[in-house]
Amino acid sequence: MYVDLGNALSSVASPGVSRESLDRLDEDVAVAHERIERGRANAEHGYAALNLPGTADPDAIKATVEPVADAEALVIVGIGGSALGAATLADALDSEVDTYVLDNVDPEHTTALLDDLPLSETAINVVSRSGTTAETLANFLVVREAFETAGVDWTERTVVTTGEAGPLRDLAQKHDLPVLKVPDGVPGRFSVLSTVGLAAAAIRGDDLDALLQGGRDVAESLSGSLFEAPAYAYGATTYALDTRGASVNAMMPYAEGLETYAEWYAQLWAESLGKDGLGQTPVRALGATDQHSQLQLYRAGPRNTMATFVRPRERIDRAIPATDVDGLSYLGDATLGELLDAEFEATEASLAAAGRPNVRIEIERVDERGLGQLLYGLEAACVLAGELHGVDTFVQPAVEWGKNAARGLLGAEGKFEEARAVEEKTRLR
Ligand code: PA5
Repeated sequence: MYVDLGNALSSVASPGVSRESLDRLDEDVAVAHERIERGRANAEHGYAALNLPGTADPDAIKATVEPVADAEALVIVGIGGSALGAATLADALDSEVDTYVLDNVDPEHTTALLDDLPLSETAINVVSRSGTTAETLANFLVVREAFETAGVDWTERTVVTTGEAGPLRDLAQKHDLPVLKVPDGVPGRFSVLSTVGLAAAAIRGDDLDALLQGGRDVAESLSGSLFEAPAYAYGATTYALDTRGASVNAMMPYAEGLETYAEWYAQLWAESLGKDGLGQTPVRALGATDQHSQLQLYRAGPRNTMATFVRPRERIDRAIPATDVDGLSYLGDATLGELLDAEFEATEASLAAAGRPNVRIEIERVDERGLGQLLYGLEAACVLAGELHGVDTFVQPAVEWGKNAARGLLGAEGKFEEARAVEEKTRLR
């Protein structure tokens, strides 16, 4: 993973950060890095997620999903951190297994999906760390019923990913389903490189070793200086820009396959850093499409936004056919990839010319290794930004409040009280 901060410097942009400020900030990065390394060494909650490239067991995951290895389609049933990582991989990587993500409880969508699926050839991966999330459990019960109605034995088509205990674990035990355990100390939004994201990837035939290698590439580069560790360069710069007024961060990959990566990033950033009145608002965008919708605002709107541009250095390309139509000849010698790169660079330059901060992130290719780098890289950046802000990166009391309150409204006993207890704790933070 490569990170270019040039357009975030105060010589170019406002808000921007000066080289001298980054030098000073580097002392805080060194302290934060020590804290992160201590957390990793002790496998503390949250920090343990940064060990996943070394602790995940791809062979065990592949062995557990073996019963559904013949699937032609896959439905991932989960939500938030238990869906977005797998969805990001599925969106970015080609597979012969058609993959669908049920991460909402819209009855029309669920019904349409189930009506279209070849259920006897479909695998289900139901994912819930807590095993209690209402949306996930409700969807799973609906999917299960659809299999039963179609006369397909769902117990032969289901792999469960869940925590040590809880209703989903009980259900899996009752029906003797294959189960992958969510590792301890790994919050949902940091779980893509664990059983949470890798089970679906294994069913799809993605290269788990290369994904984890991508994570290791970045893990090995982490050091006590932002000038040596690209992930920390990104985390420290977004922190510096945020504290100087860039309260919005628009993530804009220039690759269709990375559209869901921007969604994954939005959860990571919002849920980890949105605390104590702090946190950058993440925006999901896609280049070049959103140049034609959002860019006007980023170039000429309030000076509260930074952009993060992501692209692969190589992609499978396609020539644009030549034409003798007047005014279109400039396209004739180009490829679609060259046009996309030109759009990328023009957009960067256009924001820089208007003094608007932006950062460039590149990987070699949108493949397993590149994705491992992008996913792990932003996780490490986020943990660093959390340390610099002094927030508790790995909790999500607002999310828990909503989950309990919704269950309370549906009549689950004691759930409103739990929601209130979470609120009390939150107030004390
Ligand atoms: O990041 C988080 O903690 C959340 O987005 C959870 O992943 C999400 O609420 C799903 O929770 P669970 O895996 O317990 O079903």
